[in-house]
Amino acid sequence: MNKYILFSIFTLFINCNKNETKQIKAAVVSARQEASDIGLNIIAKGGNAFDAMIATDLALSVCYPNAGNIAGGGFLVYRTTDGKFGSLDYREKAPEQATRDMYLDSDGNVISGKSTIGGLAVGIPGTIAGLYEIHKKFGTMPWKDLVQPAINLAKNGYKVTNKQKRSFDSKKEDFIKINGKNTFYATDYKIGDLVINLPLANTLKLIQDKGRAGFYKGINADRLIQRVKETGGIITSNDLVSYSPVWRARIQFKYKELLITSMSPPSSGGICLGQMLEMIEPFDISQYGHNSLKSIQLMVEAERRSYADRAEFLGDPDFIEVPQKKLLDPIYLSNRMKSFNWDNATLSNEINPGNIIFKETEETTHYSIIDKLGNAISVTTTLNGSYGSKVFVKDGGYFLNNEMDDFSSKPGVPNMFGLLGSEANSIMPGKRMLSSMTPTIVEKNNKLYMILGTPGGSTIITSVFQTILNAYEFKMSMQEAVNAARFHHQWKPDVVILEPKKFDSDLIFKLKEKGYNIEEKFSRIIGRVDAIMVDEDGNISTGADPRGDDFSSVLK
Ligand code: DON
Repeated sequence: MNKYILFSIFTLFINCNKNETKQIKAAVVSARQEASDIGLNIIAKGGNAFDAMIATDLALSVCYPNAGNIAGGGFLVYRTTDGKFGSLDYREKAPEQATRDMYLDSDGNVISGKSTIGGLAVGIPGTIAGLYEIHKKFGTMPWKDLVQPAINLAKNGYKVTNKQKRSFDSKKEDFIKINGKNTFYATDYKIGDLVINLPLANTLKLIQDKGRAGFYKGINADRLIQRVKETGGIITSNDLVSYSPVWRARIQFKYKELLITSMSPPSSGGICLGQMLEMIEPFDISQYGHNSLKSIQLMVEAERRSYADRAEFLGDPDFIEVPQKKLLDPIYLSNRMKSFNWDNATLSNEINPGNIIFKETEETTHYSIIDKLGNAISVTTTLNGSYGSKVFVKDGGYFLNNEMDDFSSKPGVPNMFGLLGSEANSIMPGKRMLSSMTPTIVEKNNKLYMILGTPGGSTIITSVFQTILNAYEFKMSMQEAVNAARFHHQWKPDVVILEPKKFDSDLIFKLKEKGYNIEEKFSRIIGRVDAIMVDEDGNISTGADPRGDDFSSVLK
């Protein structure tokens, strides 16, 4: 071996080692590697976390069509590097022709499927208006440069993963039912196939050239309205043109030395997370042990009480008065926990006749971003169900949401996540449907500590709740906190859902003995958390959920 080769091997070794120990300067954690890489590349080129958000989001609309979207909606919670917080609501709204009883038959019964599949399920999309608004306020790179990577991805194609193939296959019948047998995503994809979506590339080009008008006006608006009409829906051009996102006051609360900022109504996420943490704070949960009998009991009882409040009091604050202060009041919450005892489960007062009927795996999507300056972004975005309403705008290359199902079609009748609602979440024109999305940012001792969130419908809030406790109380690394087995309770139905095969039989036996109804066979994944942690010394680490194809792209 000559000296040169020896020298090269030696320097390679040093570089590898350096790479391993080099600190992470920025990170994007999302549902797909393509999207995380695209976001990170924007940061590497000098963009900030908001720039990266726009590029990541649009990339997900291409390569993660079950949840990534241009025709859905979402929520952003951010913390700038100088400690300023804010949040943007770009949630869908009910169309102007929507009515309170639009999903009921003449006898007043909910018509199955009407709020979940087809044109009538579609809410007015908010995503592009939201991204455009964020760019106006925080963007540092030209809009067109942030849209371009998604256009390239749509033109060059993304590879079908194993999990994605299963997802396409499982929805194929619905795609065909709504869009005909030649519809784009009903193709028999194999793992590794390249999906090239030129119509979507063209729509993104319109958005690139015309900004929000490229989506809400002109040819794309015409296509969208036409497609909604063909499939039984009621969206008008006025609905599209008049859509606007809203900067909302943040929800912020303390848990021990943590300051937690999350999404306010129309999401229930922030309030419910605050309630649950406040209810368990007086207990020394770290002493009970992670996923121990006592920890599960305590957390389930807090969850039960919070979801009961959710069903009664929460909805769009532009339409109803949300008693936010009262709901987060420590005395109110401590009174709520007075009925809790360690011997027996508190029974949710009556078993709901319906059940959780929604057995899907991947629908909403969350991503977390930190840039080189320390700006933090937490975004959850969705079409609601997997591929939303299944209505595909053929010439536009995208699916439309079925967010209308997040309204309460009728008090006492559960939606597809088994969630109940009341008048507070009834349908009205222009109203936003109640959400569970919980994009969250946590500070510890005034410093950025965690950025996290997850999909999972009703299980979103409880997954975020558990992940924060896993890291903070049970001292897990970010990745361990994300990986750890999860459970869920939502008041009604009165059942504790456990991730299958992850909890031991002795624990399950003891929970049953105390009167908890346990459901372990449920096939739905409880959350897919994508998170970032910053330790006290400023070291960044990530957690991408192995339950999906989620991926952390990091800059060193
Ligand atoms: O806003 C909500 O709460 C629901 N539309 C979220 C849907 C969801 O998370 C589906 N994912 N698994």
